Amino acid sequence: MSTNNIWTHKGTFLLAAVGSAVGLGNLWRFPYLAGENGGGAFLLVYIVTLCIVGVPILIAEILLGRSSRRSPIMGMRFLSRTHKASRAWESIGWLSAAAALIILSFYSVIAGWALHYTWRMLTGALIDADAATVASGFESLLASPSLLTLYHTLFIAASGLIVGLGVHRGIENALRLMMPALLVILLVILTYSVMHGDMPAAADFLLTLQLSDLSFEGWLAAMGQSFFTLSLGMGALMAYGAYMPGKASLSRTALAIVIIDTAVALIAGLAIFALVFGAELDPAEGPGLMFTTLPLAFTEMPGGSLIGAVFFVLVIGAAISSAISMIEPVAAFLVERFDLSRAQSVAIMTIACWGLGLLSVFSFNVWASDSPFHTALSISAFELMELLTHILMPLGGLMVALFAGWALTHGEIMKELQTSEGWLHTWRFLVRFVSPAAVAFIFLRAIPQIEGYLIPLIGAVVIVGAFAASRLFRAKHQPKH
Ligand code: PFF
Repeated sequence: MSTNNIWTHKGTFLLAAVGSAVGLGNLWRFPYLAGENGGGAFLLVYIVTLCIVGVPILIAEILLGRSSRRSPIMGMRFLSRTHKASRAWESIGWLSAAAALIILSFYSVIAGWALHYTWRMLTGALIDADAATVASGFESLLASPSLLTLYHTLFIAASGLIVGLGVHRGIENALRLMMPALLVILLVILTYSVMHGDMPAAADFLLTLQLSDLSFEGWLAAMGQSFFTLSLGMGALMAYGAYMPGKASLSRTALAIVIIDTAVALIAGLAIFALVFGAELDPAEGPGLMFTTLPLAFTEMPGGSLIGAVFFVLVIGAAISSAISMIEPVAAFLVERFDLSRAQSVAIMTIACWGLGLLSVFSFNVWASDSPFHTALSISAFELMELLTHILMPLGGLMVALFAGWALTHGEIMKELQTSEGWLHTWRFLVRFVSPAAVAFIFLRAIPQIEGYLIPLIGAVVIVGAFAASRLFRAKHQPKH
């Protein structure tokens, strides 16, 4: 059964996709990764990765959604059948559903922290607090399973409620209300940071390139970040793409998503670092940057509690608009496949994520050191979830690129992309060879045993692999293209 839902307006897909892309990845992850990996050097590899991996795979994913007009699992089943490709490609749908479940489970826990900080800022609990008090406040939040569970529950319930109300009544209405409000808040924060922070120091840190800061770890982080921030390999954009009106230009929309997403990350990064430098704090604090360094910076500035609360409202809103895009693909699948009602499907997905999220909640406290996970894998459940994300998203993206690049005919791609022959060929070359090779290379290079001299060999193997993939799609009846 294909979907009957189509976004009400031509521009709604862009709104929804930006809502999905802009989230904790931009406000929390990008600034701390840039802080840890040398600022400008990180930005450079990040932008290169976006161009050769992010944009092509983003287009591929939306394309598969729109041409199948189904939820990711059913859509890949349909496309592999109609293109006489192996049924194994259906695993793209299953992989993305697993990734959505895992990511949302811990995403909701982190978004819950922002709820806590909004509350603390509003009540003035952090006024005049010193570094030790702010840091111990974060530690006591993590040490409390009941508080973490409460916030996690509130966040996931709010996201589920929006999706449960339906594509038009819930998702569209919420995004139409939230996205402009979030833009205004972002500009307020930026203005505040220009007035009270040290913007030249922030710009110097984020935009000056020190070649000596370039590192393989930075590249790896940039690659993971480009998948995470563009919501790739998780079916979110495939599901949203299925509701995209046929006439809307796919390549222009994809480019707009990447530009807006990157602009938000940069603005957030500049604003956060301006405040951090203004308060003479450490920019390389890691994941605690938003929850320990930034609140401390706010406490030292005029009207900081109020602006701090507004900032954390921005974080919550951006996270909700991303979370709904993780619920939608799986919920839509349950509706299509099992004929369940939307409310039932959303409840199943939300409750499953909530339950899985408890593993992350407990990994910060009751299971902090002697968890079954720690003992077996020597990492916490939360770290395991993050690690799985970094495997599942690129893997899903790699397969999406190969399928879109090799299985779809020239005519199908032209119909969806509505672009020049030149761009079509460039995109196809990128998704057939360049993006898969880059993803596979990064994957393999992450294995410490692999020596440098093997890298060209790995590249060659990947290219031969891509050619081999093409054989999987050579159907007898298919026109040669
Ligand atoms: N892109 C979101 C962010 O940057 O926070 C995270 C995300 C949303 C990842 C949706 C995956 C997804 F399907």
